[in-house]
Amino acid sequence: MALHLVTAALPYANGPVHIGHLAGCYIPADIYVRYLRLKGKDVLFICGSDEHGVPITIKAKQEGISPQQVVDRYHAMMKKSFEDFGISFDHYSRTSAKIHHETAQQFFKTLYDKKVFVEEITNQFYDEEAKQFLADRYITGTCPKCSFENAYGDQCENCGSSLSPTDLINPKSKLSGSTPVLKPTKNWFLPMGEIQKSKEFQEFIKRFENWKPNVKGQCASWLNEGLQSRAMTRDLDWGVTVPLPDADGKVLYVWFDAPIGYISATKEYFSHLTPGPSPQEGGEKKWEDYWMNPESKLIHFIGKDNIVFHAIIFPMMLMTHGGFVLPENVPANEFLNLEGDKISTSRNWAVWLHEYLNDFPGREDELRYVLTSVAPETKDSEFTWKDFQARVNNELVAILGNFVNRTLVLTEKFFEGKIPQQHTLNATDKELLAATGKAKKEIEEALEKFRQRDALAALMDLARAGNKYLADTEPWKLIKTDAKRVETILHNSLVLTAALGTLCAPFLPNTSKKIFSMLNIDPVKWNHAEKISLESTPSLGKTALLYEKLEDSIIENQIAKLHSSKPTPPSSANSSPNFKLPNQNSKTDISFEDFQKLNIITATILEAERVPKTDKLLKLLLDTGTEKRTVISGIAHCYEPEKIIGQQVLLLANLAPRKIKGIESHGMILMASDKNGKLVFATTSGKTENGSGVS
Ligand code: 2FM
Ligand code: ZN
Repeated sequence: MALHLVTAALPYANGPVHIGHLAGCYIPADIYVRYLRLKGKDVLFICGSDEHGVPITIKAKQEGISPQQVVDRYHAMMKKSFEDFGISFDHYSRTSAKIHHETAQQFFKTLYDKKVFVEEITNQFYDEEAKQFLADRYITGTCPKCSFENAYGDQCENCGSSLSPTDLINPKSKLSGSTPVLKPTKNWFLPMGEIQKSKEFQEFIKRFENWKPNVKGQCASWLNEGLQSRAMTRDLDWGVTVPLPDADGKVLYVWFDAPIGYISATKEYFSHLTPGPSPQEGGEKKWEDYWMNPESKLIHFIGKDNIVFHAIIFPMMLMTHGGFVLPENVPANEFLNLEGDKISTSRNWAVWLHEYLNDFPGREDELRYVLTSVAPETKDSEFTWKDFQARVNNELVAILGNFVNRTLVLTEKFFEGKIPQQHTLNATDKELLAATGKAKKEIEEALEKFRQRDALAALMDLARAGNKYLADTEPWKLIKTDAKRVETILHNSLVLTAALGTLCAPFLPNTSKKIFSMLNIDPVKWNHAEKISLESTPSLGKTALLYEKLEDSIIENQIAKLHSSKPTPPSSANSSPNFKLPNQNSKTDISFEDFQKLNIITATILEAERVPKTDKLLKLLLDTGTEKRTVISGIAHCYEPEKIIGQQVLLLANLAPRKIKGIESHGMILMASDKNGKLVFATTSGKTENGSGVS
């Protein structure tokens, strides 16, 4: 039987999981895996944290802690969020694991011994004060294209140009601030241009024909441009050390070691190192079945920024190593935007999974549903809280929830919860019962082509058919005249409810569990969904609503929270829209230049009123000495508006204006917050003229 090895991109352990990750990669992978499992396939679902790479070392420096402390923190956090949310990995590992370092080194050594790499000496920037070579992200300078002064060595974030560090005008090391010098260094390159010409690679890329159009398009553009050799080792001190005698101070390129993480995680799963009572069934060598047996289908779920690495570079690594299967498919998604803007960890513009789970306990399926409905399958897409509310209320509650609920309530009301008998079927009944088979086929076809939005739409159409059936047959009216007919109608509706329980399981696993528990039957296998019999089911279990409506206030709070959260570490529970200076435990350093950018002045509150339908927000009118301006502040839980008129405050006056609850806010007032979240105005020791600068 064919084996399936499904991987989901190893997320960088430098920030928590957000909805962009979920929609781009983890939910689609989980849907696919759950579907395969329901069909009885042999499938292994592998993921883990990507714990190397320069952004992690930068974060560690910024926080004054070690890279290992950074990855320990985020690995634990991501693993827990995935578990709590119900992403059903068979194994979630991490690339700082010993087994990973060993596996990546062996892999590199095999390629080295097979003379796959080209050794090259190139000039790289070196910081003589810090005594180390500088990764591209550690060098800043003026962009040669747009003159932006803070461009990175690999990219200008102002004009978006791709750069090399040597393109920068007046380059500076981010480590010491000194001007780096060019120094020769040896590295090992994967000659991608050469490998591209090989017969094996040309044979492999024929597979792209069946891949999603967005993936195929990106691959074609890389291949048409012609591939350049890329260094597989880097002069850095964080990563997997290069297993060669003349490679001191060098580590494997993070994009060399990370995909090997899928292999080491599989090995770990089957090895004695796996935490748990015993090694997985099959023994230590079983990992080879998934990676080396030609019957195994390797499928990588990723986001679009990872396409070249999974569709071209990793296959080249596997191919030149030999013995491994190559990816069968790489169903990459594009990006999800949030409320009209790009999701950004550093700007704290995200819906964090751990916060969602906290704010919406037990509502995992609602998020899975909406993120699948708007998944960026072929182009970038958009999540908004209002749309989330509309889809939950008008689709999950009003269509799927409504059908299941009506069916169960009517069964309880008319038959005391006993499953009624099915009698003679008429054309309407037959049409309803045939709809399941049709929907199942549509869902299968769509899932197999990685069109999960279409698959979910077919599922919802089936629930719609159920609602139409009840509306057309009106059992609540018929009960007075033809109870036998009502038995048949509700029997058929219960059969459809069970079918929905199976067909929704890949998308909405908690809903599926609830449906089967309310029907009081064991979960039905995928292949039986269109031939469900309830003959031996005596009566329903305990019933409850599948979903609750989302009220406006809940959604408005989320919108306010999103707009008000300044770039603090996302793990912080605080989301007040007031500006907070880093607390005394924070080791984050900012430069004096950064501090000088802040224009903090004194101002007096002239007017204050609550922002309607919010708990925390006040709309303030401030006198800044030169003008009156409106500021929205999240202090309503600590201060009555009428009591703060005349209060002098410190105002961060040059914060870019933002709309909060439809009101434009021009700045932030500074508050001190104690450990219980109580806020007090930060102010000067005596009153000063409004508009006085604070420095
Ligand atoms: O983009 C990312 O988050 C990478 N850490 C993905 C790595 S996927 C694989 F190669 F491990
Ligand atoms: Zn630029």
